[in-house]
Amino acid sequence: MKRSVFAALISIGPCLAAGAIFAQDAPRLRGPEPFTKETPAPPMQRQVTDDVRVRRNYPDQPPVIPHSIEGYAMDLNANKCMSCHARKFTDQSQAPMISVTHYQDRDGNTLGGLAPRRYVCVACHVPQTTARPLVENVFTDMDELAEPERQPERGRH
Ligand code: HEC
Ligand code: HEC
Repeated sequence: MKRSVFAALISIGPCLAAGAIFAQDAPRLRGPEPFTKETPAPPMQRQVTDDVRVRRNYPDQPPVIPHSIEGYAMDLNANKCMSCHARKFTDQSQAPMISVTHYQDRDGNTLGGLAPRRYVCVACHVPQTTARPLVENVFTDMDELAEPERQPERGRH
């Protein structure tokens, strides 16, 4: 009896220790309250809507959205994003056109219009908020790695 309790303790011990480490490292999205307690939702963060296009961290990163997308329809019949970003509307909207990759299916065939796999823009492109990051971002740009002394100061993002 005693031995089995002891065995149980040694197997639980490391799990508890690991749990403690994870709890410490991973910031809790829902705040410090235990999950059994209902707490009011934190206020929505303010969106960045300054219309300034943000530098990409690597060439094929989906650029982030620098404008509001609140209330933009995206369903079977309507895709509000395309009313500005489609090729035929860019003269009126002055929005950057979706790039050629958005016309290609996954086998590399170029289609006559937007590829279905690119229909839901917000699967890849997201607006930004002024929220404080939960964890520090230690990403280093390829150019900074190659020539650290030549890089301009990084901006807000
Ligand atoms: C009313 C026109 C309009 C609509 C609708 C619109 N955009 Fe834009 N978008 C723009 C313009 C203009 C820019 C250029 C920067 C700016 O003025 O905000 C832009 C910039 C962007 C960029 C940045 C591109 C880059 O190279 O940095 C992305 C990504 C983007 N929009 C995605 C979207 C998505 C996704 C939607 C739908 C949820 C959408 N846009 C709806 C007009 C629009
Ligand atoms: C599967 C991911 C994905 C989806 C879905 C997607 N995009 Fe993109 N988008 C990208 C990537 C990756 C890039 C940058 C590389 C490239 O051009 O392919 C990009 C680039 C862009 C650019 C910049 C083009 C340029 O030449 O500067 C615009 C604008 C854009 N997307 C708008 C949209 C809109 C509008 C939709 C929805 C109709 C959409 N994207 C759907 C991944 C996606």
